[in-house]
Amino acid sequence: MSTLLTNIKELIQVREHSEEPLRGEQMDELPSIKNAYLWIEDGLIKDYGSMDDYHPHPADEVYDCTGKIITPGYVDSHTHLVFAGTREKEFEDRIFGLTYEEIAARGGGILNSAAALDKMTEDELFEQARIRLNQIVAQGTTTVEIKSGYGLSVESELKILRVATRLRERGTTTNNIIPIKRTFLGAHAFPKKYKTDREAYIKLIIHEMLPVIAEEKLADYIDVFCESNYFTVDEMLRIIEAGSAYGLKAKVHVNQFTSLGAIDAAVKAGAVSVDHLEVMASNDFIALSGSKTVATALPSCSFFLGLDYAPVNEMIHQDIAVALASDYNPGSTPSGNLNFVFALACIKMNMTPQKAFNALTINAACALELQNEVGSITKGKRANLLLFKNIDSIAAIPYNFGQVIIDQVIIDGKFN
Ligand code: NIG
Ligand code: FE
Repeated sequence: MSTLLTNIKELIQVREHSEEPLRGEQMDELPSIKNAYLWIEDGLIKDYGSMDDYHPHPADEVYDCTGKIITPGYVDSHTHLVFAGTREKEFEDRIFGLTYEEIAARGGGILNSAAALDKMTEDELFEQARIRLNQIVAQGTTTVEIKSGYGLSVESELKILRVATRLRERGTTTNNIIPIKRTFLGAHAFPKKYKTDREAYIKLIIHEMLPVIAEEKLADYIDVFCESNYFTVDEMLRIIEAGSAYGLKAKVHVNQFTSLGAIDAAVKAGAVSVDHLEVMASNDFIALSGSKTVATALPSCSFFLGLDYAPVNEMIHQDIAVALASDYNPGSTPSGNLNFVFALACIKMNMTPQKAFNALTINAACALELQNEVGSITKGKRANLLLFKNIDSIAAIPYNFGQVIIDQVIIDGKFN
């Protein structure tokens, strides 16, 4: 099956190679071709170029894209998409003055979501999560990472990862299969019955959960919520070391509320990414500077909880590879809309649209080690694309905040 897109007003994020995350001044470069063609074969990008150099190729389908801009789809490298129900009550409690930490301390928060998930069957959970997957794909996300972490028992953690695996195999209700990476986050919180015996829960994660997850190949990464009242830096290191013995690299939640030294430890342990980073001390910048670990900021979480925004421009200045993701989850970010993340990045974090778009595509692909498959218009990558009409530049996306101005989401070369 081959598809030709001709007369594209502008083809954005075109890169001959894209092996490494972008850093520093590279973040402001967004290479494009005006008046372009794009040739897709069997779902992959086969060729592209200027219409001036275009020689008609035989193709099964030809679309005239006059007046349209095409970009790669967004990559969401941090979500908790598989969850049971919502937490509007806590949202209201926060409006009345309680903090996120206070709600968690009285047994709400993650434990609340875990109790709800415990009661749901795998099929019910799959149906709910699939609706969310449909929705984020319609909003332009064409690659996604999904974490467990609302199970906190052997059975329920497996249930979530099985659902994520089914989503990966079966895709959306309209059979759009997008790349999905799965992350085991058993270390998201201590269940109530382990509050006084943390060691027993850590042992459960390492000796009961991990071996089954590895045996059934249910995860690609391991995650820990390293934070005061959650997991300490030492506990995080033990858990990611145990994951590494099963071939799971780390992507960790750090520095959301406190700087505990987790970044330095995670970078030294070879973490693929460190995520959140709302609170950054000078030694955290030093640990990340020049490292391979991708720093992932989650501005919708800051927006929803009223936290500081991660200091992304300073990170970029200090030679840190920065990505943006949604953090879609029922507690701190009940939205997986990366168009809104894009807008927040520009409006609240003062990122240029070029920086933010690079952080949402190629650098986010690096945060999932999928830079050879997605994140740019590159020969051999998947033709997961976004098509915009009636816009003149990428800046139109954050400018039109709160709206989805994408005209078409193209998955594996198929228009939806
Ligand atoms: O990434 N911070 C830890 N975990 C999630 C939120 C969990 C929840 O409140 O349900 C996050 O923000
Ligand atoms: Fe998260």
